[in-house]
Amino acid sequence: MYIKDLNGCEGKNVSLQGWAANKRDSKGLVFLYLRDGTGMCQCVVSLDVVGEEKFNAAKKLTLESSFSINGTVVKDEKQIGGYEIQATDINVISYAEEFPIAKKEHGVDFLMDHRHLWLRSQRQWAIMKIRNRIIFSIHQFFQEDGFVEMDAPIFTGNACEGTSNLFESDFYGDPAYLSQSGQLYGEAMAMAMGKIYTFGPTFRAEKSKTRRHLSEFWMIEPEMAFYDIFQNMDLIENFLRRVVSDVLRDCKNELEIIGRDTSVLQQIVKPFPRLTYDEAVRIIKGEQDVNGKNAITSLEEETIKLGKDWVEKDLELVEYRKKISVPGLKKGEIGYFQSKIDKLIQEKNDLEELQTNMKQWIQSAKDFEYGNDFGGSDETVITRLFDVPIMVYNWPHEVKAFYLKRDPNDSRFARGVDVLAPEGYGEIVGGGERETDEKLMREKIIEHQLPMDAFEWYLDLRRYGSVPHAGFGLGLERIVTWICKLPHVRESIPFPRMYGRLLP
Ligand code: 4AD
Ligand code: MG
Repeated sequence: MYIKDLNGCEGKNVSLQGWAANKRDSKGLVFLYLRDGTGMCQCVVSLDVVGEEKFNAAKKLTLESSFSINGTVVKDEKQIGGYEIQATDINVISYAEEFPIAKKEHGVDFLMDHRHLWLRSQRQWAIMKIRNRIIFSIHQFFQEDGFVEMDAPIFTGNACEGTSNLFESDFYGDPAYLSQSGQLYGEAMAMAMGKIYTFGPTFRAEKSKTRRHLSEFWMIEPEMAFYDIFQNMDLIENFLRRVVSDVLRDCKNELEIIGRDTSVLQQIVKPFPRLTYDEAVRIIKGEQDVNGKNAITSLEEETIKLGKDWVEKDLELVEYRKKISVPGLKKGEIGYFQSKIDKLIQEKNDLEELQTNMKQWIQSAKDFEYGNDFGGSDETVITRLFDVPIMVYNWPHEVKAFYLKRDPNDSRFARGVDVLAPEGYGEIVGGGERETDEKLMREKIIEHQLPMDAFEWYLDLRRYGSVPHAGFGLGLERIVTWICKLPHVRESIPFPRMYGRLLP
């Protein structure tokens, strides 16, 4: 059986199997933390009960060795998971060599190189459970609303999101591209089925190392016939609210493991502000406040505070360096002081990095030129002012994708919408209403220097019973990153693919 099913098994004899997540022994007893993927449970192996041979085998278990165990379930509120197993028998399946990931701090590169093993750690386990809950919610939301899941091809003959970040591949001697988005196919499928969604891997060849970009990521793309941009925004809002609420309800334990303060996530019940591009630009440039807060001056105040924190840490560091240089210290004392020093150095570096970043955000916000698309730092600057996702719509048509509908009221704008997650996270959703006018669409295809041939099938959708329609794309890893408040998108997917990382 599995650890997750121990509820109600008090007093019964059960058999479990898994890996040793921790071990300590005292005379005649070995305490093992068993990890089986569904949970953790302390097992007590007693010499008197299992006999010398089994006891010694248990005593020799190294971190991440696999074993099976039989024993009696005892309720114990103090224990992780609330139960303890008093072993009656134990069998080692495989002794592990010295596990490379120890309790001490490791650098990110080291952990990424050992991603196949890192996934076993409790924090990564919790993130993957939350990712799984999000995926399940996504399917539930759309299926309950009558959407049909349909899959778009991965090999494509045409670009969807611009030609600068295409991964080229060889398709029986012809060039093919790994899909950047299933949207164009989604539109065709919506004309057949009404409301559809695709959920698959998508690819962007971006040679940039940011905390938001992956080369391979999973995207959910609903597409709805007879929807305009406003109905689209209503759907996005209900959808995101549902996903976040499900995680809050069903992943309390996981959120606690990763130390996520959920107060901001709880705000998800509030309406999401809808800002036009023009309003959002004024906010970024500090020309318009949000609830009494100004984007630029609040950042400036924070950089000053960071500077003060840095000075405090620096003084503390000087103190500990004095302490550690006193002659005749015990080994334990030196170790303790050294760990304080290492921690303070790390904290000082983090503060410096954040301060440098903030200065850049301020500068680029001040320099923002009306008419441009938002960069990562612009998104950070605006979303730090909100505690729910915001929807920015009506973008200058020149900076957005070729397929977006021109605003009938003002042809300078296209009916695109970006949803930006709060707490500085930025874009998690991109979408909009689609152009239905074949002539305007042809102009756009030419303007974007896309090969018309490859888009004839797509233009057919405008020739045979064209209807207003809209849709959006949610980046799965982006929402996992925000919900878990991860510092970088790389921890949100089992095996990230990004610039400079193809292994493991
Ligand atoms: O804004 P994007 O490029 O929009 C589209 O692809 C549309 N065709 C979607 C649609 O309307 N059906 O991408 C959509 C979302 C982004 O908001 C972001 O969450 C995610 O996909 N995304 C990435 N996630 C991780 N790494 C990358 N390099 C990403 N690029 C986009
Ligand atoms: Mg986008």
